[in-house]
Amino acid sequence: MAASMRLLVRRVIRLSHRNINVTAAGVSARSGCCLGPSSCRCFSDDRSTHFGFETVPEEEKAKRVYKVFENVAQKYDIMNDAMSLGIHRLWKDTLLHAMHPQPGARLLDVAGGTGDIAFRFLEYIRSQQERQKRRAMRSMQTPSWQEISNNYSTEDEDGPQESRAVVCDINKEMLKVGKQKADSLGISAGLSWVVGDAEELPFDDDQFDIYTIAFGIRNVTHIDQALQEALRVLKPGGRFMCLEFSKVTNPVLARLYDAYSFQMIPVLGEVIAGDWKSYQYLVESIRKFPDQEEFKHMIEDAGFYSVQYYNFTGGVVALHSGFKL
Ligand SMILES: C[S@@+](CC[C@H](N)C(=O)[O-])C[C@H]1O[C@@H](n2cnc3c(N)ncnc32)[C@H](O)[C@@H]1O
Repeated sequence: MAASMRLLVRRVIRLSHRNINVTAAGVSARSGCCLGPSSCRCFSDDRSTHFGFETVPEEEKAKRVYKVFENVAQKYDIMNDAMSLGIHRLWKDTLLHAMHPQPGARLLDVAGGTGDIAFRFLEYIRSQQERQKRRAMRSMQTPSWQEISNNYSTEDEDGPQESRAVVCDINKEMLKVGKQKADSLGISAGLSWVVGDAEELPFDDDQFDIYTIAFGIRNVTHIDQALQEALRVLKPGGRFMCLEFSKVTNPVLARLYDAYSFQMIPVLGEVIAGDWKSYQYLVESIRKFPDQEEFKHMIEDAGFYSVQYYNFTGGVVALHSGFKL
């Protein structure tokens, strides 16, 4: 046991030394417009794009992103907990509290991966319904004539409202792991799994009340196209909500965060998932994503209104929200 611990520690140290070189290589490999890891937010010409710090032809990015998530799918949830020390759960819970969905709401969770947002959505609605039932029971103990008449009219006209969550992801492996998780948690009612590209969603116009994309949009090749699709599939009045890694506002925290990201995350990827490169991509892709203000403007340019954002954990993550008119 002690020997294997020693072996593990030695492996981590060796890997973290290797990381210093890889990080430096990553920085120097970037194009001339980048000054440092956290200021590197430029975009390249029409036919090339970035894959982490690499510049690649546009048609190659989607294939490489697919490979990353195909490789990490089995260890994706464990790695999320390990990398964020479980904090990703709080970010996702906060998203649900901000959304505050009501029974009957229809959610489309794009880049939904292993289903974390959809599960929380269905659970949130279930607890809302429980609360409403309890409240109704309490008021039924001494109902007023008005309440009795209200109950009759809602039961007769609408019946119970069915909420639905659709998890859409381009990667079959991620969805497979998500489905297995849903089965083991006993979640099936109101949930469906669809293979689809955020840039070309396989849904008709005006279908959903809420569109979410959590830690997915930075992987998409044409973010503007994904935003247009979000707008198209939302019902008028529907809400767009995006959780994504963003720019840390406090310089001290930013330094610590950079050190942690570049020194530790690929190491954890190698040790836990046997995959350094995918987690190197993860860290680099975060640095390439537009900051809070820039992304807010992109959402507005797509046609959403009342666009706002909220920083979580000092800007490590931001929640952007907007509405379709
Ligand atoms: C970091 S995971 C996020 C998963 C989940 N939303 C979560 O918060 O745990 C990113 C997901 O985006 C998916 N993805 C990448 N490009 C996509 C695209 N063009 N369309 C749909 N999904 C995409 C990946 O397959 C992967 O499952």
